[in-house]
Amino acid sequence: MNILNEYYVLSNGVKIPKIGFGTWQIPNGNDAYNAVRSALKVGYNHIDTAYVYGNEESVGKAIKDSGVKRESLFVTSKLPAYVKEYEKVDQFFSETMKNLGLEYLDLYLIHAPWPWEEIGKDCKEGNAAVWKAIVELYEAGKIKSIGVSNFSPADIKYIVDQTGFVPHVNQIAYFIGKNQKETYDYCEKENIFIEAYSPLGIGFALKNPIVIEMAQKYNVTPAQLCIRYCLDMNTAPLPKSVHENRMVENVQLDFKISKEDLKILNSIEDDRRE
Ligand code: A2P
Repeated sequence: MNILNEYYVLSNGVKIPKIGFGTWQIPNGNDAYNAVRSALKVGYNHIDTAYVYGNEESVGKAIKDSGVKRESLFVTSKLPAYVKEYEKVDQFFSETMKNLGLEYLDLYLIHAPWPWEEIGKDCKEGNAAVWKAIVELYEAGKIKSIGVSNFSPADIKYIVDQTGFVPHVNQIAYFIGKNQKETYDYCEKENIFIEAYSPLGIGFALKNPIVIEMAQKYNVTPAQLCIRYCLDMNTAPLPKSVHENRMVENVQLDFKISKEDLKILNSIEDDRRE
């Protein structure tokens, strides 16, 4: 069974490919263009970008030039975390669509509950305001599903209380060593689907001795174990690589992690990123 043909179903019935191709830190221009062209050639059908990655234009051009039908792709982008005003959402959304050259998005997320320069700042009113604007774009049919990223249970509760609209997705850093149990359990209970960014811990989780040893046992690479872990925890991993051979390796996942081993992996606490 090829994992690239497998889907989860979001709470609104939208199908989301189980694995996405992450594009964070891939610079606009040839790098992002070539990476996305390669990913689409390998068979990835789910591409994750964001306004602040600065690479939407190259991602969009790669999608267009690939000739892959729009309806067979799942494309995500994100409202910058520093935008917390209702009035500004339309403008940023329009720019994202223009950059990508697309007619609609499959998923649009609030990138974070606070600007990255002010992590932890209380922006709950602003989050509720931009969430309302995103819900309106969704209801106007411009986006197939909507959500948040890096939101805690309290952040989610606030926007839901203010708008009555539950996000379809919360995209969080999720990898072996960082299982965000509180957020994970909350989202599971509220039927909010978890997308796992940095499923390899930006490469760091691959160096964990328990991961290395367990990968040998399953006869897979540490990267494959890390990505399978996200899937076996019912999240959608978004691995990224600029190397085509790794893009291929990262979707060769014809194995399952046993319940006992998942328990071991869930007990690892090591979220350093180097
Ligand atoms: P590269 O792009 O040079 O291949 P994450 O998805 O957790 O953010 O991790 C991405 C990092 O892991 C990148 O530095 C990427 O490097 C590297 N990487 C991606 N796939 C693999 C792999 N199969 N084996 C080793 N490193 C990988």
